[in-house]
Amino acid sequence: MAVADEEALPAGTSSNYDRMKELKAFDESKAGVKGLVDAGVEKIPRFFIRTPEEEHLEESDSDPNPLQIPVIDLTGIENSKIRRGEIVEAIKQASETWGFFQVVNHGVPTSVLEEMIEGTRRFNEEDDEVKREYYTRDWAKKVMFLSNFDLYESAAANWRDTLFCFMAPDPPSPHELPLACRNIMIEYSKQMTRLGSTLFELLSEALGLHPNHLKEMECANGHVILSHYYPACPQPDLTLGTSKHSDPDFLTILLQDQIGGLQVHHQNRWVDVQPMHGALVINIGDLLQLISNDKLKSLEHRVLANWIGPRISVACFFTTNYSPSTRLYGPIKELLSDENQPIYREVMVRDFAAYYNSKGLDGKSALSHFKI
Ligand code: OGA
Ligand code: NI
Repeated sequence: MAVADEEALPAGTSSNYDRMKELKAFDESKAGVKGLVDAGVEKIPRFFIRTPEEEHLEESDSDPNPLQIPVIDLTGIENSKIRRGEIVEAIKQASETWGFFQVVNHGVPTSVLEEMIEGTRRFNEEDDEVKREYYTRDWAKKVMFLSNFDLYESAAANWRDTLFCFMAPDPPSPHELPLACRNIMIEYSKQMTRLGSTLFELLSEALGLHPNHLKEMECANGHVILSHYYPACPQPDLTLGTSKHSDPDFLTILLQDQIGGLQVHHQNRWVDVQPMHGALVINIGDLLQLISNDKLKSLEHRVLANWIGPRISVACFFTTNYSPSTRLYGPIKELLSDENQPIYREVMVRDFAAYYNSKGLDGKSALSHFKI
C-alpha cells in the first residue's frame, strides 16, 4: 500500500505529487480506510487532507447551551387525531427551519437498531479477503463496498468506508448480501419501508396535501442502505469523516452510534446532532426540497473524523435512481400560485443523481444546477 511520505499539505499545493497514483493504489488495495489503519499509518495520506475551503469552515458551536435539532415523539400517530395534528405541525416546523430532526417512539425496535450497527461492525471487521469480493465502483451492482464513492472526483477524500445495498424496489437476492449483515439488512429494510411510508404521509400533510400525495409520486418506492464505518483517525483535525453536503434523495433516515461527530449547518454555525440511544435522525433531501419548491429544506451536514472510533452509522436514502423510472419531478403543482412560482425545472431522479455523483462532495449544492 503506497502511502504519501511527503509532508502533509492541502490538496493541490505541490507539483511533484502524483495524486492520481496514490488514489489508485489506495483504491486497488480494496481494503478501504480501515486497511490503512490496520497497516498502522500514523500520518494520513495526503489525499485525505481537507481543502483550505473546508479548513476555514466556521468552528463548531462552543455555546454552553448549544442548539439542538428538534426531537419529535411519534407516539399516538395512528390512534389520536389531535396527537397526529401536533406531530404534523412539529414536523412542518422542523422541516421548514432545520430540515433535520430526531424521532423517538418510531416503532423500530431498539434491538433492530443495535443489531444493524453490530452487523455493520461485523462486516467491516471481516478479513480483507471477504470484503474485497464486494469492493467495486460498478454502479450496476446492488451490493457495493467501497471507500469514497467520489474518490476520483472530490478535492479531498473522506475518512470512511461504506457498504451500499440497493434494497428497494428490487432487492438483491439474500445470498448476494454479505453474511455478516444479511439477516439484519433484510429486516432493517422492512422497517425502513414501514417508517418511510409513515414519514412520507406526515410530510404530505405538513405540506397541506393528501396523506398519500408523496407516496403516489413514488417518493417512497426505492431505498438504498448505506452502512458507514469511520475508523479511528490518527490525525482527525486534518481530514473529515464526511465532507459538507446535502443528501441527493427525497428523505434520509439515519441511525448513528454513540460516538457523535455528525453536524448540521444551521444559521451559519455547525450544530452537533447529539447521539440519542433508540432515536433515528430524519433529514429532508435535495429532491424533496425541489418538489416542495424550497418549502422544506435540505440542510448541509458533515461528519468530523475522530480518534476514538470506529464510528458506525447507517443511512437509508429514499430515492429511485436505480429503477428505470422516467418520471419527471418538478415543484408540486398544488403548492404553486402567482406568489409562489416554480423555482426549479423538472428532472428525472437518475439525471439528478448522475449530476450529483459527477460533481462529488464539493461543498456546493447540486440543487442550484436545476434552478429555472
Ligand atoms: C450520509 C450522511 C451521516 C453520518 O450518508 O449522507 O450524511 O452520520 N451520513 O454518517
Ligand atoms: Ni448526508
